[in-house]
Amino acid sequence: MARVVILYSTTDGHTVEICKRLRQTIETGGHSVQLLDVKDDPDLVDGTFDKVVIGASIRYGKHQPLVNEFIKKNQAILENHPNAFFSVNVVARKPEKNQPETNPYLQKFLKKIDWQPKLLDVFAGRIDYPSLGFVDKHMIRFIMWMTKGPTDPSLTIEFTDWDRVAEFGEKIAEL
Ligand SMILES: Cc1cc2nc3c(=O)[nH]c(=O)nc-3n(C[C@H](O)[C@H](O)[C@H](O)COP(=O)(O)O)c2cc1C
Repeated sequence: MARVVILYSTTDGHTVEICKRLRQTIETGGHSVQLLDVKDDPDLVDGTFDKVVIGASIRYGKHQPLVNEFIKKNQAILENHPNAFFSVNVVARKPEKNQPETNPYLQKFLKKIDWQPKLLDVFAGRIDYPSLGFVDKHMIRFIMWMTKGPTDPSLTIEFTDWDRVAEFGEKIAEL
């Protein structure tokens, strides 16, 4: 049995939902999973876990700066364990941008950090128009209009491929 730590960075909670699905898959394989928010600057203590995963969402073109800081601070311990990273963004709803190699945010992020995660993935996120404030709602509608996505402000659209999330969970279990 492996002890897996999943650290997440989220603004509206969808990345946590993805982490919960990962946890479900990994626990089904007989392993234990701990979910931690990067915002709480959790301590990664050697000997208390066997594998580590970081998941972060994109907002206005970037993961939260806290994610880069956390990686920098914990680089050595990350590298000493089987590790994985995933990004959540809505550009990944497009088939030509839904792989780690083709997702522009993930590629840009990897160039910025020194850590090279052993396993990578990218998941399409969710747009919950009714929950957004005025500025964000209209910015996202504009971006969606530009990129031929849904613009109806009454809609909540989940683009996430949950089977793919579960497959990633299986890969983490095998790391
Ligand atoms: C204000 C705002 C800005 C966003 N900016 C981007 C963006 O620049 N590119 C993108 O692909 N997705 C963008 N998204 C989509 C988010 O990545 C997506 O909603 C994701 O599911 C958010 O995950 P979270 O709830 O864990 O933060 C944005 C969403 C919001 C609400």
